[in-house]
Amino acid sequence: MAVALLVAAGSGERLGAGRPKAFVVLAGRPMLEWSLDALRAAGIDDIVVARPAGYEIEGVVAVEGGATRSASVRAALAAAPPGDVVVHDAARPLVTPEHFTAALAALEEADCAVAAAPVTDTVKEADAQGLVMATHDRSRLWAIQTPQAFRRAVLERALAVDDELLAQATDDAWLVERLGGTVRVVESTPANFKVTTPYDLTIAEHLLADRLSPPPAA
Ligand code: CTP
Ligand code: MG
Repeated sequence: MAVALLVAAGSGERLGAGRPKAFVVLAGRPMLEWSLDALRAAGIDDIVVARPAGYEIEGVVAVEGGATRSASVRAALAAAPPGDVVVHDAARPLVTPEHFTAALAALEEADCAVAAAPVTDTVKEADAQGLVMATHDRSRLWAIQTPQAFRRAVLERALAVDDELLAQATDDAWLVERLGGTVRVVESTPANFKVTTPYDLTIAEHLLADRLSPPPAA
């Protein structure tokens, strides 16, 4: 059985809610609880949470997070029981159990498998003056999310780097890519968005409140 690392140690500066983002109340409960529910519904009960110092969470192993996101992943991994690993951001509360099971199933054919949504906007590259240099082929582009699933030994090796390199990683799959590991995308949807700004929190609040009390059938 797989183990889960839920990273929840960020300060949530862009949200600006005056407390760590994972502990901001969202549709009646701390944001991270939505991800814990989805993990347990997927049958994943071994969960290690990286959290800020001083925040306690019932029913999971909790460790203090690191200075960067991947440092928090590394701290959580060190406390995790054996097994393949699925890493998830507590900042994605709309995740479903299927996201976890699909990412883990894709490990059959890869070292790492990441939830990803096809890019729907046209993506251009511009220089520092705003002059467009290139338009990228959208059909090959994916917006990367979590969950990200890893074979255990691969993630351990990928995270065994110095803190400077760790700080450059905006996701853990990149650390596997740089070792030449195989990484697959597992198609997801934009609904599994990351709560980053107050706008995102408003949208998530509406969607999760509907989940609690679905509108009556017509
Ligand atoms: N995270 C973490 N440890 C860190 C930084 C981030 O565990 N040192 C976690 C966050 O709690 C979040 C996820 O990584 O669940 C994605 O990070 P992000 O959305 O950037 O959250 P924050 O870093 O909290 O937000 P901000 O960058 O706006 O401060
Ligand atoms: Mg951050």
